Amino acid sequence: MKGKGSPGYLLIRLGVWAALLAIGCQGAIQTPDYDDTSSPQFLNPSWMAGIPDERPLSEVNLPGTHNSMAFYGGALTECQSWPLSLQLRAGVRFLDVRVRHVRGNLTIHHGIVYQRAHFGTVLEEVTRFLRERPTETVLMRVKEEFSETHALYDAVVSYIRAYGDWDLLWHSRDTPTMGQARGKLIILQNFSGPHLGMSYGAMDIADEWKVPTLLHIPTKWQSVYEHLDAAMAGDCGRLFLTYASGAGVFAYPNAVAQRINSWLYQHLATLAGQKLRVGMVVMDFPGAPLLKMIIDLN
Ligand SMILES: *[C@@H]1O[C@H](CO)[C@@H](O)[C@H](O)[C@H]1NC(C)=O
Ligand SMILES: *[C@@H]1O[C@H](CO)[C@@H](O)[C@H](O)[C@H]1NC(C)=O
Repeated sequence: MKGKGSPGYLLIRLGVWAALLAIGCQGAIQTPDYDDTSSPQFLNPSWMAGIPDERPLSEVNLPGTHNSMAFYGGALTECQSWPLSLQLRAGVRFLDVRVRHVRGNLTIHHGIVYQRAHFGTVLEEVTRFLRERPTETVLMRVKEEFSETHALYDAVVSYIRAYGDWDLLWHSRDTPTMGQARGKLIILQNFSGPHLGMSYGAMDIADEWKVPTLLHIPTKWQSVYEHLDAAMAGDCGRLFLTYASGAGVFAYPNAVAQRINSWLYQHLATLAGQKLRVGMVVMDFPGAPLLKMIIDLN
């Protein structure tokens, strides 16, 4: 009973497939620049405590995650593998949150894919983190996705009142200093309506997210590289935001991140030891050492 068609052989094959599937689902790569496993190599939960109070937030380098809550839907829509609480404790301070608005209800979406969470979950998590770590600040881009009501304002306010804490918000368009920002959630408002924090559109942003095929990754990297240079030389009072993430039908976020994150890591390694303003650098599947490299340029 050892032939190719035997039940024993089939069972072994099934086992191998199940193991491969499990690896594929959970992610299995953990390098200094790319990490699609369920938790970071190390945590860095209070790094902002070391930033001087008087420094404007526009001069603080901070790592971020693109589509911070995109955990489901397969390789085309998944951008992160660490739960939000671990992203924050690993040192991530910029979040990119996409909400679908249906009659006052805000659910988390990446494109058409529901991410099994609502905006309240995100607010609860961030609020808990800021209360535990009052030296830190979290910047959160909020954008409407997979709905077109152009009327997020009231819903966002009612979610903040229900799940967050109105008093933890930075209620100004002005850029705070690190001291003023500590313990605050800064909404980077990417929706219309009255002011509810800082303006996303007013920042200097490089978000060349369309990477049609793997052959387009070098062009993507060029835009990242140039914008990091621009941040180093640019107006200190302006917030700079560089997305290292990208995707297309023939280039999934994980495939793009495996290459771009590695180039980013190598590039930042050449700058290590200096104090340079690179601003906010936003990634898919970053590794904890890559986050630290951005933080250490402060
Ligand atoms: C969103 O709507 C569903 C029903 O459609 C409801 O069960 C849920 O409580 C709402 N979520 C929030 C956060 O209000
Ligand atoms: C949202 O961000 C996008 C990309 O930067 C920008 O084109 C758009 O104008 C922004 N919209 C609002 C209302 O902030």
